Amino acid sequence: MHSSAIFTSLVAIASIAAASPTRRDTYYAVSVNVITSPGLDPNKVSEPAPIAINQLTAINCDSTGTGCASSELILDPSIAINVDINTVECRAYKDAAGVEPGSLPFNVSTPAELSTNLGSISSILCYIVETD
Ligand SMILES: *[C@@H]1O[C@H](CO)[C@@H](O)[C@H](O)[C@H]1NC(C)=O
Repeated sequence: MHSSAIFTSLVAIASIAAASPTRRDTYYAVSVNVITSPGLDPNKVSEPAPIAINQLTAINCDSTGTGCASSELILDPSIAINVDINTVECRAYKDAAGVEPGSLPFNVSTPAELSTNLGSISSILCYIVETD
């Protein structure tokens, strides 16, 4: 059914783990601003979500616990705990298990534009990419 998507995710996670010079006893994190207004709304509303590096993080914008209706995801350039923000890349997923992609990869210079309506996002994974 979704086996190819699951396989792709596992391969992605395996290569992420190999490429990430992180230590278990140190907390590495960034913050993603989840814009919850429609894309053309000038009065953007954002929900900051703290995201630990290499850790799929469930996000919820309200008490129903069913994810976030979002138009844009922005990696906050001012918040980076034990990481160089310029080496971080993130992806959002439609499901809490991180199987169904909900955005293109995004980083501090390129936010993820989801839709002029609102795309639904349930989890975010951020990881370190090599910078050569
Ligand atoms: C961010 O992503 C864009 C598009 O993938 C890429 O061209 C750019 O080099 C990336 N920037 C950083 C700081 O990694």
